[in-house]
Amino acid sequence: MHSSSRFLSLLGLVYIALAQSMNQAGYNPRVGPPNANCTRQTYQLDITSNNTVFQNVDSNANETYITKLLQTFAPLPMNFSQEYEHPDKQPLSRQYSISGTFCTPMNGQVKNASHVQYLIHGVGFDSSYWDFAVDGSDEHSYVSAAAAAGYSTFRYDRLGTGLSEHPNDTYNVVQAPTDIAIATKLLEMLKNGNIGGQKFDKIVGVGHSYGSVQVQALSATVPRMLDAVLLQGFSTNATGQLQLLTSGAYSTATEVFPDRFKDSGLPSTYLVTLARQTQQLNFWYFPYYSGAAFNHNRQTEQPVTQAVLFTQMGLVQNATNFTGPVHVVTGANDWPFCFNDCYAVPANGARGSKPANFSVYIPDNTGHAVNAHYSAPQVYQEMLAFVSDAFAA
Ligand SMILES: *[C@@H]1O[C@H](CO)[C@@H](O)[C@H](O)[C@H]1NC(C)=O
Ligand SMILES: *[C@@H]1O[C@H](CO)[C@@H](O)[C@H](O)[C@H]1NC(C)=O
Ligand SMILES: *[C@@H]1O[C@H](CO)[C@@H](O)[C@H](O)[C@H]1NC(C)=O
Ligand SMILES: *[C@@H]1O[C@H](CO)[C@@H](O)[C@H](O)[C@H]1NC(C)=O
Ligand SMILES: *[C@@H]1O[C@H](CO)[C@@H](O)[C@H](O)[C@H]1NC(C)=O
Ligand SMILES: *[C@@H]1O[C@H](CO)[C@@H](O)[C@H](O)[C@H]1NC(C)=O
Ligand SMILES: *[C@@H]1O[C@H](CO)[C@@H](O)[C@H](O)[C@H]1NC(C)=O
Ligand SMILES: *[C@@H]1O[C@H](CO)[C@@H](O)[C@H](O)[C@H]1NC(C)=O
Ligand SMILES: *[C@@H]1O[C@H](CO)[C@@H](O)[C@H](O)[C@H]1NC(C)=O
Ligand SMILES: *[C@@H]1O[C@H](CO)[C@@H](O)[C@H](O)[C@H]1NC(C)=O
Repeated sequence: MHSSSRFLSLLGLVYIALAQSMNQAGYNPRVGPPNANCTRQTYQLDITSNNTVFQNVDSNANETYITKLLQTFAPLPMNFSQEYEHPDKQPLSRQYSISGTFCTPMNGQVKNASHVQYLIHGVGFDSSYWDFAVDGSDEHSYVSAAAAAGYSTFRYDRLGTGLSEHPNDTYNVVQAPTDIAIATKLLEMLKNGNIGGQKFDKIVGVGHSYGSVQVQALSATVPRMLDAVLLQGFSTNATGQLQLLTSGAYSTATEVFPDRFKDSGLPSTYLVTLARQTQQLNFWYFPYYSGAAFNHNRQTEQPVTQAVLFTQMGLVQNATNFTGPVHVVTGANDWPFCFNDCYAVPANGARGSKPANFSVYIPDNTGHAVNAHYSAPQVYQEMLAFVSDAFAA
């Protein structure tokens, strides 16, 4: 007891020291693991997206109104739409500033330079989910495991997270249709030689959670641009996800983390989980992770807009034209996608038609934040075996 609480307060001190060196409200400045040669760059993307138009909302709403909207949406999303969304979508053209990081194995140890994994993170994280470095260790870094296996990766901070732009119109701008248009644009850039210094002829899309929702959508909308998809922390059963909106007690980021966000100028509708407990409930499965991993995540937790929470499940669609392999990796104790039991709610509950080449891996003792649990190193080996087969095919 004593030693663990001393350990925790020591971590607190380390965090204060780190926080002062972090810009962008808790951004982990590490560009990559030591075994990868990483380049971070900001891309100016011209995007047109077909967006949901919200009504009766305010990007600077108070906590009471924010909570009322969550309470209205979670039980009956259709009724929410009728009251708070215009029936027709509207095109929105705008430029976005997005930070991305390309990593290739050090010293030319890449298996095939024209192959890359395209990594999209989920809610509550930024792209450092893929390079999750607790106390400088690389054990939880998927980028490091991939580099060790000879594979390059490209990851980016989704709009409204990390070093990417945080638009102040959180409803009509920072929402799933914008996110999928950005994801599509970056995928085209990987294909066309605008990222990583070359054209990639084989790309495996790898997502986590909302990132998997986007990778799944890309396999439907641009099926020929991806050779395989790996969906981590995913199922097509949205029941638990609606639970997440309320059990996460999503609250104004500037109020939950005043030290990190007070100077950020973020509108009130950029949200984070209210407390350690509401984060644990949704993302973690005790005791199968270290206190250090949990603290690291809490100290770098990134905001999500209310509109992303309200529009994300609308992206999942039939991918009948996608012929590549699909692999789902979801923790046995995932809460948002399985309600704590992925054997009861099979992760393979594929919507409509099931992909022809489909496989599932359910690691034991693992919650939704897969990369942060003790199981991560084994999970990475399983994921990379799939990736290796996909590149070899
Ligand atoms: C919060 O905003 C709503 C809607 O604008 C308003 O009716 C309510 O009085 C506000 N509550 C507080 C505590 O400011
Ligand atoms: C939800 O919408 C349906 C159809 O418009 C309506 O019949 C029902 O009463 C609504 N429920 C609530 C709780 O508003
Ligand atoms: C945008 O979405 C609406 C449905 O709300 C659809 O009718 C329209 O064709 C879409 N526009 C584009 C450019 O995709
Ligand atoms: C890292 O990448 C850069 C640019 O591609 C290259 O010039 C350099 O030699 C690489 N360094 C190592 C150690 O692999
Ligand atoms: C790399 O993979 C491509 C197919 O994606 C293949 O044509 C090429 O021969 C491979 N290069 C090497 C060096 O193995
Ligand atoms: C929102 O951001 C835009 C562009 O960044 C700026 O022109 C506008 O004044 C901002 N609006 C508010 C209410 O801060
Ligand atoms: C799927 O492929 C068929 C035949 O090429 C095409 O007509 C259809 O538009 C495609 N659907 C999508 C969603 O790309
Ligand atoms: C979705 O999961 C819930 C539990 O979270 C379960 O009760 C429900 O039957 C599942 N629905 C489908 C279609 O699998
Ligand atoms: C998806 O595919 C299934 C089976 O092919 C079909 O029944 C369903 O209507 C499709 N859903 C959509 C939204 O197209
Ligand atoms: C499924 O895809 C993998 C590549 O990831 C390939 O090795 C395997 O042969 C495929 N299986 C079938 C039945 O097509």
